[in-house]
Amino acid sequence: MRIDIITVLPELLDSPFSASILKRAIDKGLVEVHTHNLRDYTTDNYKTVDDYQFGGGAGMVMMIEPIDKCITRLKSERDYDEVIYMTPDGETLNQKTANQLSLKENIIILCGHYKGVDQRVRDQFITREISIGDYVLSGGELGAAVLCDAVIRLIPGVLNNETSALTDSFQDNLLAPPVYTRPSEYKGWKVPDILLSGNFPKIEKWREEQAYQRTKERRPDLLEE
Ligand code: ADE
Repeated sequence: MRIDIITVLPELLDSPFSASILKRAIDKGLVEVHTHNLRDYTTDNYKTVDDYQFGGGAGMVMMIEPIDKCITRLKSERDYDEVIYMTPDGETLNQKTANQLSLKENIIILCGHYKGVDQRVRDQFITREISIGDYVLSGGELGAAVLCDAVIRLIPGVLNNETSALTDSFQDNLLAPPVYTRPSEYKGWKVPDILLSGNFPKIEKWREEQAYQRTKERRPDLLEE
């Protein structure tokens, strides 16, 4: 998989990909992440990427020309399955969307700033608009990093058995059950006996019940889906 991220702040996207699972996925050649500085696609001396909005109103709007130039150049080099725009008014990211995107070959992610991008960018280039939640970030970069993390860990071969995504919360519309590790007793606080029993069918059943209980208490909406 190849992910191209278009941003005015490429430095914000350095660290998420330089540690742990995402770094390993890149090192293993399972994913390539390329960031593109939108200012490299400007034509004026000030490298302007935004301007006042027509009709008046507070806040700047990202201009269409540098974005068009960047997307057009990328598209001349390969085909893209999706051109995603990170925006608080997009569809809310969930595990289903992450699963879908993890099967794509090439995607572009455009990070918005200020009041957002000129609507014509959305009309002409964007195939999918994604929000990471009902709150406003100062830009789309952290949202893009969240999206990439959720997607990349699902690419076959990225996770090993110990970190398998199959038992994650949401993977089957249930939250994950509680987990414990050594010691089996700490300050008198005990691990449930069942987990120490060695009876794996019973343990599996307990985990399913716990996952269901937890989902019912915390996220009953998931059970209705
Ligand atoms: N940009 C600003 N806020 C955002 C959000 N909640 N999700 C995605 N991109 C954003």
